[in-house]
Amino acid sequence: MTGTFITFEGIEGCGKSTQAKMLKEYLEKLSQPTLLTREPGGPEISEKIRRILLSVDNDEMLPETEMLLYMASRSQHTGQWIIPALQKGMWVISDRYYDSTLAYQGAARKIDRQIIDLITRYATYGLVPDITFLVDLPAEIGLSRIAAKDADRMEKESLSFHRNVRDGFLAIAASEQARYVILDGKKSIDEIHLDVIKAVEEWRNNQ
Ligand code: TMP
Repeated sequence: MTGTFITFEGIEGCGKSTQAKMLKEYLEKLSQPTLLTREPGGPEISEKIRRILLSVDNDEMLPETEMLLYMASRSQHTGQWIIPALQKGMWVISDRYYDSTLAYQGAARKIDRQIIDLITRYATYGLVPDITFLVDLPAEIGLSRIAAKDADRMEKESLSFHRNVRDGFLAIAASEQARYVILDGKKSIDEIHLDVIKAVEEWRNNQ
């Protein structure tokens, strides 16, 4: 694999999607072909699964079904989009990847870690990000940025659920320090962007 794979993670309202977009723009100014994509989502099949996952009509969905649908979306996304782009030498930026399953379905929904790890390896063909940015923010600040009327099925979860998600992300970051960069989500958009660029340039210089 010749390309570089970067993921952004964090709770709702942390600002990671803005940062992912700004990084794509930065790389494109350097003439680096870049694919910006998201999970759940990307190819059409995965976007269809996203609609099932986030629809407030599906509030009867069981945690097991939810986890498997995120994984199904991911296998299509990784196999159809991410791996072929990396093989062409592109940089791929994904707004969420499997660490979201560890944080949401693992730490918050309490699904067994070993089961998630096993299915993750299968669904991702073993593809691990080169760099993962965690935009860290207290759950109450993140949730306050989301308009209540537009909240999707996951965003409607309780504050304590989202606190568990945040703690889950921090625990993963602590156990995988080699690929993780923790960003302070309370900083301004431009300050966070500078931190992202610094980490990306450091990573490039070490290659
Ligand atoms: P988004 O709001 O960042 O687009 O993400 C969609 C929602 O799906 C968000 O609430 C996080 C959640 N999610 C999971 O619960 N597990 C996963 O594996 C992924 C990728 C997202």
